[in-house]
Amino acid sequence: MRTETEEMARTMAREPGAPLRVALLGCGVVGSAVATKLVENGDDLAARVGAPLELVGIAVRRPGRPRPDVPVDPSLFTADADELVTRADVVIEVIGGIDPARGLIMRAMEHGASVVSANKALLAEDGPTLYAAADANDVDLYYEAAVAGAIPILRPIRESLAGDDVRRVLGIVNGTTNFVLDKMDSTGAGFAETVEEAQALGYAEADPTADVEGFDAAAKAAILASLAFHTRVSSADVHREGITEVSAADIRAAAEMDSVVKLLAICERVTGDDGGEAVSVRVHPAMIPRSHPLASVREAFNAVFIEAAAAGPLMFYGRGAGGDPSASAVLGDIVAVARHKVAGGRGPGESAYADLPVVGMGQALTRYHISLDVADRPGVLAQVATAFAEHGVSIETVRQQGGPGEGDLAKLIVVTHRATDAALAATVDALRGLDAVDDVASVMRVEGS
Ligand code: HSE
Repeated sequence: MRTETEEMARTMAREPGAPLRVALLGCGVVGSAVATKLVENGDDLAARVGAPLELVGIAVRRPGRPRPDVPVDPSLFTADADELVTRADVVIEVIGGIDPARGLIMRAMEHGASVVSANKALLAEDGPTLYAAADANDVDLYYEAAVAGAIPILRPIRESLAGDDVRRVLGIVNGTTNFVLDKMDSTGAGFAETVEEAQALGYAEADPTADVEGFDAAAKAAILASLAFHTRVSSADVHREGITEVSAADIRAAAEMDSVVKLLAICERVTGDDGGEAVSVRVHPAMIPRSHPLASVREAFNAVFIEAAAAGPLMFYGRGAGGDPSASAVLGDIVAVARHKVAGGRGPGESAYADLPVVGMGQALTRYHISLDVADRPGVLAQVATAFAEHGVSIETVRQQGGPGEGDLAKLIVVTHRATDAALAATVDALRGLDAVDDVASVMRVEGS
């Protein structure tokens, strides 16, 4: 901790209008877009901040590599990130991953720099440590680009909705999976071939695991839930299912319900074990009706739908990735923290006062859409209905397709009312064990209706 005298000296050291030193860690797709805009829009940014932003260094692994697309003095590139962060007022971290990003951010704050980060994995794993360091050093920690790229969503939750009561957040926060599911819907193709096409078009990484297995979306869900519910939520608290098991049959089943399949990040207030308030945070594919605003989010776009007590429904939509869109969010944060450096004071720190318990997936209230291939003979519907009843699951609709003439099998499509996910999963297990059930062809959760 600084003494009061040290603190005063630090505050008074700034001459009015003196340049603010900005250090950039990382110069990939996002970093190079940030550096370019810092230079090209320097006059406007200075006017908005009240002081010029002076780029004092860019830490990269290979400083000697030619970077013709980044219009800065090549001598600004350095391999010594440890040293760079000690001589900046604002440090921008766009290298990603846990280490060395965490150590560099901590060191930057210890040297009095405010930090702007796009690092969802780090914020979702260890946000409270970073917030504590920001508090201890009286600096800002902003990370708008960590969730949904260009879409202003963290600041609206953290600031604009600070006086409201957020009840639920439903997000499409991963562009790769949205692109794949949207293509599967429009072409009827399967998962594997659609991912290959997405890779060929540059929408999916060569190793798409983080996206298609839901890790990326889970980190973003943890960040959204922490801010929305004033409660610490880490990636480890988030139930995660990716889209690798979504089949062309699931997409067809959704289409027959006038619905689409989306990978959703769902953060909501629920009733906990003790009857008190708790939160549920999960990422999984779900059917949503085509009439829901999130169903119209096509290709690699992102969107976040919020339900708040007073505001009602809110929808935020835009590009969730890419150099320029992410740079827009990073630059907005740079201007915000730089304004605080000029005028004094800080933005909001961590708000985790509610400290609500996070419940497991079994306690989440969900609805299931289940397609069954069953023997078409008397009594089968009763057996199926009994499996639901025995688990306390109420059926909303049952539809039968086909019948004798199709190998004596019929298709039963059951949509349930809301029940705990544990009860619904146990019902599906029981259905699989029935002699009359030839196959449980598709199981998909239903949201948004
Ligand atoms: N890989 C992410 C996506 C973007 O597909 O949306 C970065 O979080």
